[in-house]
Amino acid sequence: MRPFTEMEKSSEDRLSGESTDALAKLGMPRVVAGMWRVCDWRMSAGELVDFMHRCIELGVTAFDHADIYGRGAVESLFGEALALDPSLRGRMQIVSKAGIRLGASSAASPAGEGPLKYYDSSPAYLREAVEQSLRRLGTDHLDLFLIHRPDSLMNMDDIALAAQSLVEQGKIRAFGVSNFSVRQFELLHARTALATNQIEFSPFATGALDSDMLAVLAQAKVSPMIWSPLGGGRLFSATDEAARRVRGVMAGLQQKYGAASWLAIAYAWIFRVPGAPYVIVGSRRLDSVQAAVDGLRIALDRQDWYAILEAARGRPVP
Ligand SMILES: NC(=O)c1ccc[n+]([C@@H]2O[C@H](COP(=O)([O-])OP(=O)(O)OC[C@H]3O[C@@H](n4cnc5c(N)ncnc54)[C@H](OP(=O)(O)O)[C@@H]3O)[C@@H](O)[C@H]2O)c1
Repeated sequence: MRPFTEMEKSSEDRLSGESTDALAKLGMPRVVAGMWRVCDWRMSAGELVDFMHRCIELGVTAFDHADIYGRGAVESLFGEALALDPSLRGRMQIVSKAGIRLGASSAASPAGEGPLKYYDSSPAYLREAVEQSLRRLGTDHLDLFLIHRPDSLMNMDDIALAAQSLVEQGKIRAFGVSNFSVRQFELLHARTALATNQIEFSPFATGALDSDMLAVLAQAKVSPMIWSPLGGGRLFSATDEAARRVRGVMAGLQQKYGAASWLAIAYAWIFRVPGAPYVIVGSRRLDSVQAAVDGLRIALDRQDWYAILEAARGRPVP
């Protein structure tokens, strides 16, 4: 396993990934702006341009999308914003995903057709989904394209060939997966080099530790991208006992680490796990984006990392 020497690097160094990691080769910073909730933010295209500029000023140049976010509306708004300021595209990395077909009442969505929600990783569907994302975003390539969720009917050989062909055509620069199990990741990675597995991880969702996913990715030198690092906002819920405990422990550590906010400790907890994770921030608040960047500067010691785990689980490790 890679030694944990990166904590000694400057924050600027650490915002860029490791040179050997496929996401770093795309120029992606370790903090990524998540676009899932953009429809809730009720931003105009102009306001989104402003948000993008502010993120880029903080070094957060990567933006995480999926075709189904807002049933295509998020990518469309982002495309409108890029059209307002075309200088932005060359200064950012765009990530998008496909493979979930939402079904019903989604005429405008690539995930439409039929009443059922289901998964589709067929090569024809993936190619069509990429084309549609490019059209909505008004760009000629995705920097990173991910299969959103594992499809029970997927054929690993076909997916690998489809991904390679999308790269060769210049439609995507790199390919990866999201929410894949350890075995699913290994089977596909053996056929085509995967840039990442985008997975859920937070003090409230530690399945990636229990399944050895983080260890396997670290061994493969593939960095995970972490979604819902704050438990999808649960960390802020005052009525939630576990959240209250975790927040209390984090607040108690803020001074020790000279952190500007306890939220920076929350992100530092994620950055501390093996495999040089990339963290996707889900907030429109620039303070939260800044806290994630600050979290990269903080090297939690083992006892403090485990104190947060214990607070979330409500019991000590066995
Ligand atoms: N691959 C997948 O299957 C998958 C699944 C889910 C998400 N994702 C990606 O991961 C990204 C992040 O996920 P997430 O949105 O669940 O992340 P998160 O950061 O765990 O949660 C975001 C929530 O926390 C709230 N929050 C953040 N800072 C706050 C603060 N200072 N005070 C109060 N509330 C605060 C946000 O509200 P405010 O906006 O009001 O701050 C938002 O509701 C998504 O945007 C998406 O790109 C991927």
